[in-house]
Amino acid sequence: MGAPVRRISRCAPCRGRVSVTLLGAAAGLFAAVFFVLIFLPWRPVGELPPVAVQPVHRVDPRLDRCAACHRRVTPGIVEQWAESTHARRGVTCRDCHQVAEASPYAQAHVGTHISTTVTPRVCGQCHARVTEEFSQSRHSLPAWASLTGTRDFARDPRLMALWSETSHPPPDPGLVLSSRIALHDLEGPGVTPLACESCHEIGRPNLDGSAGSCSKCHLRHRFNLEQVRRPETCTLCHAGPDQPQAEIFAQSPHGVIYATQEHLYHFSQVTGRLGVDDFPAPTCQICHLSGFGGQQTTHDVGERLSWYLQMPIARHRPEHEAGRAAMREVCRQCHSTDFIGRQFDAADQVVAWTNARIEEANAILAGLIRERIIPPGDFSDPLHHLAFNLWHYGGRAARFGAFMQGPAFTQWSGLYPLMRDLDNLRRGASEARRRAEQVSAEAAAGG
Ligand code: HEC
Ligand code: HEC
Ligand code: HEC
Ligand code: HEC
Ligand code: HEC
Ligand code: HEC
Ligand code: HEC
Ligand code: HEC
Repeated sequence: MGAPVRRISRCAPCRGRVSVTLLGAAAGLFAAVFFVLIFLPWRPVGELPPVAVQPVHRVDPRLDRCAACHRRVTPGIVEQWAESTHARRGVTCRDCHQVAEASPYAQAHVGTHISTTVTPRVCGQCHARVTEEFSQSRHSLPAWASLTGTRDFARDPRLMALWSETSHPPPDPGLVLSSRIALHDLEGPGVTPLACESCHEIGRPNLDGSAGSCSKCHLRHRFNLEQVRRPETCTLCHAGPDQPQAEIFAQSPHGVIYATQEHLYHFSQVTGRLGVDDFPAPTCQICHLSGFGGQQTTHDVGERLSWYLQMPIARHRPEHEAGRAAMREVCRQCHSTDFIGRQFDAADQVVAWTNARIEEANAILAGLIRERIIPPGDFSDPLHHLAFNLWHYGGRAARFGAFMQGPAFTQWSGLYPLMRDLDNLRRGASEARRRAEQVSAEAAAGG
């Protein structure tokens, strides 16, 4: 009986202190909420992407057997990995490199089997949704098919199934890609590994039935968001005369803001929460890939596009309206609906202008081939080169410049060279016809 009394009596003197403490805590909490509401910038709280994550413990690099030895063998790799979210979440060297003995990539290694190649199938064990989106995009198998058609993977039914699931297939690939496949073959395997393949490897066929390489963008072994969100990551491949997106972006107002006010960008912000307070102007990623405003992150870089701009004659994509709407939704975070409408209308005009001229060029070339004035094989006559340059450089630079705010490219790498090359093609065709008539007249006279 005495105990509760004692407790009460012991508590009696401190009751006042308890209520003071409680009151203080409540006031503190209120103040904290108030400050958070007033001073924190508003962020749209997007849904965090589902990641099928198993390991959750932090790995001590000294205790992990692979890492412990590799700390001496390849210290740079262990250092990069140790700083990664992967290491913090318990993803180890083994999760990405250890394979069954039966794996086509298996090599014996200190009592186990490892693979140096890490395919999207491996990443996909934990990042299923991302991997599926990537596999459907033109960054996957279509990028490889651009070099050799389907011949490198036609024998693997798993890869053929992936190929047929691509959301943005190049329409009639045989016809559309033939000149580039011819170019790849003409240059030959001695030199193309350091040329075409270095970029198109992003969609290489893998021996485990998957395609592509995530680490073409996610440079190992930090795999951090800041690196992959910087536009330089895209410009590894998206640069040069036939796809001058790097150069166009650099000269666009968006690129200028990036170059001059980089300190305002929050490249490490949590995925799904990026907003205008993190990015004052868009980078390649914000427009094409990142979750931003109303758009979810997508690894299908074709999802927000309406045209196949890269084709000789640009065509609408099957889902062009949805693609256009998704892209406009990105612009809408910073520009008015009418402003955006005018930009897209004007860019569509540039597409129509280039298409009309490239159609004329194609007709000229087809006529010469039909009349047997020039041989049909790709690049078998200077006029083939001229017709190729005309759309591959002029036509594409004009279209890309128009949609990505690069007037110097629209005009001086685009419209003007296209016009000049078309004029040269017209003259070249008349000249070739005249020569052919002369030759047949001489043959008739001689015979
Ligand atoms: C006792 C030391 C040791 C241990 C343990 C060890 N490795 Fe290695 N590993 C090496 C050495 C040495 C090389 C060769 C380095 C070189 O060529 O410069 C190597 C190479 C590699 C390579 C590159 C192979 C290539 O062909 O390029 C990978 C990947 C690799 N190890 C992963 C692992 C994984 C995963 C584990 C744990 C299952 C592991 N290692 C455990 C010593 C070790
Ligand atoms: C999240 C997955 C992942 C983890 C974890 C990982 N790697 Fe890798 N590693 C890769 C990828 C991707 C490549 C590039 C493979 C390719 O080109 O297909 C690679 C390549 C390598 C290579 C060969 C290329 C080179 O630069 O020498 C070595 C060696 C290597 N990793 C060692 C390690 C070690 C050691 C660890 C642990 C400390 C580790 N990796 C952890 C994904 C991973
Ligand atoms: C064994 C499971 C596993 C594998 C295999 C794996 N990851 Fe991860 N990855 C994770 C986990 C867990 C996280 C942390 C997710 C989180 O915190 O929300 C993560 C996070 C990431 C992130 C975000 C990093 C950050 O700092 O926010 C990237 C990018 C990533 N992984 C890429 C890859 C790539 C590319 C591969 C294949 C080369 C790969 N992962 C393989 C489990 C894995
Ligand atoms: C610097 C990196 C890089 C190199 C080198 C490269 N490409 Fe590409 N290629 C790209 C990019 C990026 C695209 C996407 C362009 C687009 O969609 O606007 C592309 C698109 C293509 C396409 C599809 C669009 C089209 O033209 O119809 C084909 C085909 C192609 N490349 C073939 C080749 C061939 C063949 C070679 C070598 C002779 C090669 N590429 C070299 C980066 C490269
Ligand atoms: C390793 C090289 C490489 C890197 C890095 C790369 N790309 Fe690509 N990209 C390509 C190639 C190659 C193609 C063309 C595929 C084909 O031939 O069909 C392409 C195509 C595209 C397309 C056109 C997709 C379609 O459906 O037509 C977009 C958009 C794109 N890339 C955006 C990006 C962005 C954004 C980044 C950076 C986050 C990036 N790429 C990084 C090589 C690359
Ligand atoms: C302001 C937003 C924006 C930025 C920034 C931007 N793009 Fe684009 N991009 C577009 C639009 C809009 C299109 C044309 C969309 C369509 O087809 O309707 C486009 C088209 C493309 C295409 C052509 C796809 C095809 O059909 O051939 C590629 C490739 C591409 N962008 C890559 C990049 C890269 C790489 C960067 C950064 C260096 C970049 N973009 C920066 C908005 C942007
Ligand atoms: C064209 C470049 C590119 C390629 C290729 C690429 N990624 Fe990414 N990835 C990005 C960018 C950019 C982000 C940041 C997205 C954002 O800002 O919302 C990202 C984010 C991620 C994240 C963290 C966010 C999330 O949605 O979970 C993971 C995990 C990831 N990538 C895994 C992969 C895997 C696995 C592959 C290969 C199947 C891959 N990536 C291929 C550019 C790429
Ligand atoms: C995160 C904000 C943001 C997004 C998203 C964005 N922009 Fe911009 N944009 C800017 C800023 C900031 C400027 C520079 C201010 C200026 O030029 O008045 C700019 C400038 C421009 C300009 C030049 C304006 C002028 O008057 O010269 C055009 C055109 C443009 N943007 C088009 C687009 C299109 C099209 C999209 C979507 C594909 C887009 N922007 C997405 C922020 C954005």
